Amino acid sequence: MDESLDTVLVEYDEDRGVGTLTMNRPDALNALSAQLRDDIVAGLELLEEQNEGADGVALRAVVLEGAGEKAFCAGADIGGFSDESSGGSSARSHYDFIRDFPAPVIAKIDGYCLGGGLETALACDFRLATESSTFGFPEVNLGILPGAGGVQYVEKIAGPAVAKELAMFGDHISAERAADEGIINRVYDDDEFDDEVDEYVTDLAGQAPLAVQAIKKSADMAVHSGLEEGLEYDRQLFEGLLQTEDHAEGAAAFGEDREPEFEGK
Ligand code: COA
Repeated sequence: MDESLDTVLVEYDEDRGVGTLTMNRPDALNALSAQLRDDIVAGLELLEEQNEGADGVALRAVVLEGAGEKAFCAGADIGGFSDESSGGSSARSHYDFIRDFPAPVIAKIDGYCLGGGLETALACDFRLATESSTFGFPEVNLGILPGAGGVQYVEKIAGPAVAKELAMFGDHISAERAADEGIINRVYDDDEFDDEVDEYVTDLAGQAPLAVQAIKKSADMAVHSGLEEGLEYDRQLFEGLLQTEDHAEGAAAFGEDREPEFEGK
């Protein structure tokens, strides 16, 4: 399944169960127009359709990237500001949609990752970047703050001092610094980036899918809940996973010293 929406290219690799969404406004550094926000949601919905009739586990991972040589995404479309602050015209913003999406979403970042682009990456489950990528919240230069919770999310990852520094100065930081602060997961040489990301995504897509979906829910729940509530939630997820065929297969494979074959059941 390959589809070309107005501003997003959608691809699906059936063998690995990996979808790819490419934000496709390279002339505007993939700035988030209302159309682009809507198309990210529409692209995710198309990919989710692959799960129909497959017990919800055909789609194992989604890669979100930016077209062109320069940017993952340079933030909100400054020209179209009146229709934006945190969401496009969809009922749920693309940020919410990515966070609630059942399969993990990986931001593949090569170039500028700014403002709403960084907030989009923060909504993803993983952030992988080239060493030449740069990150920042330039909104303060426009007299505003990141409108989709950027300060909140960076505060949770890296603490208030880092969140304030990024958002109050509006400077770009390097991929190396972003990784040091925990804002991104991995930094790769530009030359090896595609291969490294491919390997990372293939490994992730091969993990037991019900466990991966449960872990995503657990980690996201922890952002909103207290520890007691989170521990109870994890206990319920754990009880459910103990009953799955994948768990039996994983245990059997360990005992037989072979690689497990997970089927998402
Ligand atoms: N919204 C709309 N268009 C944008 C954009 C944005 N957020 N960011 C870049 N563009 C457009 C530029 O207007 C330019 O269009 P043009 O070729 O028609 O003039 C094109 O993308 C290339 O950008 P340019 O500024 O020429 O590239 P650069 O390499 O010199 O600078 C940036 C890159 C990212 C530093 C610079 O474009 C920038 O600061 N953009 C704004 C980032 C921002 O403030 N985002 C948060 C918004 S709340």
